[in-house]
This record gives sequence, structure tokens and C-alpha cells, in this order.
Amino acid sequence: MDRQSIIKQFEPVKDNLLNILHALQNSNPENYLSVDDLKLVSHYLNITYSSVYGVVKYYSMFSLKPRGKYVIRICKSPMCHMIGNKEIIDGLKETGYKLGETSGDKLFSVEETECLGRCAKAPALMINDKTYTALDRKKLKELIQSIKLNEQNTK
Ligand code: FES
Repeated sequence: MDRQSIIKQFEPVKDNLLNILHALQNSNPENYLSVDDLKLVSHYLNITYSSVYGVVKYYSMFSLKPRGKYVIRICKSPMCHMIGNKEIIDGLKETGYKLGETSGDKLFSVEETECLGRCAKAPALMINDKTYTALDRKKLKELIQSIKLNEQNTK
């Protein structure tokens, strides 16, 4: 579906700004919003480009740079930090994925995020729209492995 058709699924009202941005980003195989996307949204909703840009910059789930197919967002807020997000970051590094980077095969990008609202089951992370909790190094590696296997099987 082209960018215009994605946008037109939504009523042209400001309340739909976040939904439209999500839909555009999710439909991009590189998981980001381009300058052209922001211009389209600005025109469609009749709001300034800088308002759209401001919203995209405010929410950490949006990106203006190409990312991997899977965006791993590690919670860096206090509970996860205390309980062991370093274990998660180190575990990812052992599997070849570093915080702040996109893997060479463009499969994973690793980012940090604020609290995911799952503090009781820390440490937590999100991979795209799904949250994973009570993680340790072993569970994390199994999770990454299962995504990679799934990707190989769908090729
Ligand atoms: S502190 Fe990590 S989910 Fe709340």
C-alpha cells in the first residue's frame, strides 16, 4: 500500500496524528518515518511540519533514521535498572547486538526506552509492539534465536 493510501485510512483530524505516524512507520520495512512522511501528514492534517516533527521527536518509539526490522527497546527506568537491564544489554551484546546500533543484516536495532509499565516483572523490553518481561540472559537468547529462526523459515 502506498503512503497516501495508508494515510487516507484515517479521518483527517488531529486526534489521528499518532495513529497515522504509527501506521506509516510500521509499513516501512526500515521502521522509520521519512521527511516526506512528515510532510504528507502535515498537509493531510493541516498542521505545521514543525508540529509533526515535534511529536515524532518527543515519542521515543518513532525514528527519523532507518532501523532494523525488529526494534528492541530496553527499559532503562529505575526498577529495570536495579533488577538487571545491564544483564539484558550484556546478553544482547554477546549475541552480536549492541545498544544504539542496527545489525549489519538490518534485522535488529537496539534502543533504550523509559518505563514500559511492567515494573513488577522487571527487567522488561519491547520488540516492536510486543513486551517481554522477567527476562534473564538465557530467556533473552532464546527469544532472539526464535525470531531469527522464524525469519529464516519465512525466506
Ligand atoms: S521500570 Fe522497567 S518496566 Fe517500569
